[in-house]
Amino acid sequence: MKTQVAIIGGGPSGLLLSQLLHRRGIESVVLERKTRDYVLGRIRAGVLEQGLVKLMEEAGCADRLHAEGILHDGTLISYGDEMFRVDFTEHAGTPVVVYGQTEVTRDLYDAREKAGGQIEFNVEDVMIHGADTNAPFITYKVDGQERRLNCDFIAGCDGFHGVSRQTIPLDVRREYEKIYPFGWLGILSETPPVNHELIYANSPRGFALCSMRNENLSRYYIQCALTDKPEDWTDAAFWEELKRRIPADQAANLVTGPSIEKSIAPLRSFVTEPMRWGRLFLCGDAAHIVPPTGAKGLNTAASDVHYLYNGLTEFYADGSTDGIDSYSQKALARVWKAERFSWWFSSLMHRYPDQSEFDLKMQVADLEFLRSNKAAQKAMAENYVGLPY
Ligand code: APR
Ligand code: PHB
Repeated sequence: MKTQVAIIGGGPSGLLLSQLLHRRGIESVVLERKTRDYVLGRIRAGVLEQGLVKLMEEAGCADRLHAEGILHDGTLISYGDEMFRVDFTEHAGTPVVVYGQTEVTRDLYDAREKAGGQIEFNVEDVMIHGADTNAPFITYKVDGQERRLNCDFIAGCDGFHGVSRQTIPLDVRREYEKIYPFGWLGILSETPPVNHELIYANSPRGFALCSMRNENLSRYYIQCALTDKPEDWTDAAFWEELKRRIPADQAANLVTGPSIEKSIAPLRSFVTEPMRWGRLFLCGDAAHIVPPTGAKGLNTAASDVHYLYNGLTEFYADGSTDGIDSYSQKALARVWKAERFSWWFSSLMHRYPDQSEFDLKMQVADLEFLRSNKAAQKAMAENYVGLPY
């Protein structure tokens, strides 16, 4: 089989890239190791920057996002019983859109299928060959049958545990990582959100986050030990702990109910450089991971896709390699700013086992400064709504 762009991974990065290329008449084949339902079963963050909204519009997939997405002009930040608001529209001139990543992925799958896009599910033993030549190809299996996909370019959109990053030789690759000494225990509940905006909570017992998917589907997180397992936490224990970490007046309004999903995510910051090797381009989680504190995972994957899609479009339009040659440098420039913001916001809001009393005083001083200083709020707002592509 032959295509122009072979895309490994049918998550948001791979699907968005495939749909955008299709809109420019560029052929692609998506190879996904799971099923569509399995991919859609993953619960992920739900805050979209305007850059991603615009890409979904360009991909012709933004109708439901505009109909069901919730505009958020700001967010709440609490520490103990204190709480203040950072206004995104006032400081950064734009809101964010609350719309589940699962819904973004669903919209992209629907669009690819409507356009007759080629997506192969349940692929196994994917191997990249000749990425450093002008005739790369991929071998893989479906139902035990060996297959080969010849292509011009390969987009490695296969996430942190995929094969693409590992294909880049160790003497070419440089990796940077920070593992956080805690996880996030998250639940979904069919209850109205405790507040119409998100609450990021710093408390002596640890971080908490109150988020939502719609007016009757809430998403809550509490910082937990890395040794915790979801089954260690009953719903009652979760709600009790959440109430102790958010301001009392908010806790009094909290509507609890049975969890319909409960999971623990570890937190890491990770970047691999370069994001290109020959005809192989890494996109999204295949190249970088952020702690979810700043909701930057999907939004940084989106800017990768923006740079790669435009570079490939330029190549097929007039043979120029300027866009693809500058891809890694452009993508990494924005990736590192998202890594910094996510690390900063995580440092501001969580309890770390090695924090001294002085460190805790610095956290409160940082929060008080953010609360009282418009320049600090502007800096936070500009990062949260998304720095320019
Ligand atoms: N072959 C084929 N597909 C693979 C392989 C492989 N060897 N390895 C992984 N995959 C698939 C996974 O099953 C997954 O569906 O690649 C996809 C990667 O999707 P994501 O992990 O969602 O990564 P990405 O598309 O870059 O999206 C980034 O989604 O996962 C969140 O936190 C992440 O918000 C971020 C965003
Ligand atoms: C979520 O709604 O899942 C969410 C929102 C904001 C974050 C992280 C997760 O920073």
